[in-house]
Order: sequence, then structure tokens, then C-alpha cells
Amino acid sequence: MRDSRETISPRAFVAGYPIKHSRSPLIHGHWLAKYGLDGSYDKIAITPGEFPEFIANLKTEASPYRGGNITIPHKEAACLLADQVDPLAEELGAANTLWREGGRLHATNTDGIGFLANLDARQPGWDRAQRAVILGAGGASRAVLQALRDRGIAEIHVVNRTLERARELVDRFGAPLEAHGMNSLPSLLDGAGLFVNTTSLGMDGAEAPQLPFDRMMSDALVTDIVYVPLKTPFLLQAEQVGLSTVDGLGMLLHQAAPGFEKWFGRMPEVTEELRNLIIADI
Ligand code: ATR
Repeated sequence: MRDSRETISPRAFVAGYPIKHSRSPLIHGHWLAKYGLDGSYDKIAITPGEFPEFIANLKTEASPYRGGNITIPHKEAACLLADQVDPLAEELGAANTLWREGGRLHATNTDGIGFLANLDARQPGWDRAQRAVILGAGGASRAVLQALRDRGIAEIHVVNRTLERARELVDRFGAPLEAHGMNSLPSLLDGAGLFVNTTSLGMDGAEAPQLPFDRMMSDALVTDIVYVPLKTPFLLQAEQVGLSTVDGLGMLLHQAAPGFEKWFGRMPEVTEELRNLIIADI
């Protein structure tokens, strides 16, 4: 007898609440069409109360889905409910990509991979930076810290409005991290080679403080995980003093690729064509 899944076109999803603004269907839809693959990718609104049952269904072969992306507010619950959590997601306590394999529901977190792949693609050699300054200590910051630590950046400073949250992250992720309050930010930029904004400062027209980026190394890189607007206030400030910048859109695109490979069997490429498709939607 043939495996029934051979004849059923593969399906994946993004699940969150709210989910209306997710651009993941646009990204995966583009790849499915580009590679001529049979498959579909759905946007699913699921409340926290419904999420455990949704995952229980996903664990069974009866589910129409091979897996999917998990977004706010379910990333922590996904990590707890999956059968097999890889070390990246385990350490973050949050998963954004699920797939069923060998009768088990697997979980990983591709945010850190997406962050690194974006910088590698747009600013090769960026990781020669000795000192990195990360603004923010929320969920997005964790993935960035993990990625920078695993890449071997020598000195990583976590700056946060609430110092205690920065301290918690440093305790969790260990050396070479240091925690600081906002007042230390200007002096930490002295001689730094990388600045990453992981907060919502500057998002959707929100205000952002003026930072002395001129104190960074002349070959320093400034990047932002915010991608609406594409040129955030921090990126504009950095460009005004002649620094290189990389916007956050590529992180979104690159974090999507590993899931696509799991569900649809082909590692997709992040191209300018895809970037422009999403920019047109921003
Ligand atoms: P996410 O999971 O998207 O990172 P989060 O967990 O809510 O979201 O974290 C948001 C981050 O932005 C935090 O570091 C937050 O600082 P606090 O820990 O002090 O709350 C930071 N943030 C948000 N608004 C800010 C503001 N106006 N000034 C400074 N930091 C801000």
C-alpha cells in the first residue's frame, strides 16, 4: 500500500494570536510557486486556550499539517508541548518551528539562525566585531544573544531599560555577556563593532532616542530587528555618521527557510525578488 501522505499535498501553517499581520504566508507562498511545489501554507488564529488541543491534533497522522511556524503568544507553550525540542529552542524556552517526523513532534527556534544568516548575507565579515552592544532583553533579544555567543563574539553587552531583565538573561546565557542599564549605553558604544536593537523603539513610527553612534569603530555595523519601517531611526542615525547598516527584514526571511525545508523538502533561497515582494507589503 502506498503511504497516503505521498498523494496528499503537504500543508504547513503559521499559528498565533493575533495573526492577521503575519507575512509568513507571503514568504512560503512565494517559495512554493517559485519551485513549482505542490503544497500550501495557512494562517491560523489560535487563542492560548485552544493551543494545547491544536498541538495534540498536530501530533497525530490525522492532522492535515506536517508542521508549521509558531508566533506570539505561543512560542513558549510550543516548546513545552512538543515531543522533541532541540538544544537551541530548549535554551531559549521558545520554539517557532514545528514538524512531525518519526511519529514525534519536533521543535526548534530559527530566529538566531535567521539573524546570523541575514548579517552573513548582507555584511560578510561583520563577525570580526570584538564588542557587541544589544539593546533589549525580551524574547527577540534572547535569540540574538544566543546567536552572537555561539558565533564566538568576544564581548557582548546587554543593555535594557529594566536592568533586572538584562541580568536574568546574562545569568541564563553565561559568559561573555554583561548586563547594563540604559545610562551606560553611550559609553558602551565606545569602540564597539556591532549594535543590535531588539526593542520596539522606532517601530511603526514610535520614537527612538538619539544614540552616539559616532563613538563606535569606523567599520562598525548597526542592525535592527525591527523592519517596519525598513530604515528605522537607529539605522538612519548610524548612516548619518557613516556607519554600515543592515535592516531586519532579512532575519524574517532567513528564519523561515529551515521550516520550509522540513515541510516541503527543499531549502529555499532568500532573494532580492522575495525581499521586494515583502517590501511592497510593508
Ligand atoms: P520581544 O519578545 O518582542 O522582544 P518583549 O519581551 O516585550 O518583546 O521585550 C521588549 C523589549 O523592548 C524589552 O527589552 C523592553 O524593555 P523592558 O524590559 O524594560 O520592558 C524594551 N522596550 C520596549 N519599549 C521600550 C522603551 N520605550 N524604552 C526602552 N526599552 C523599551
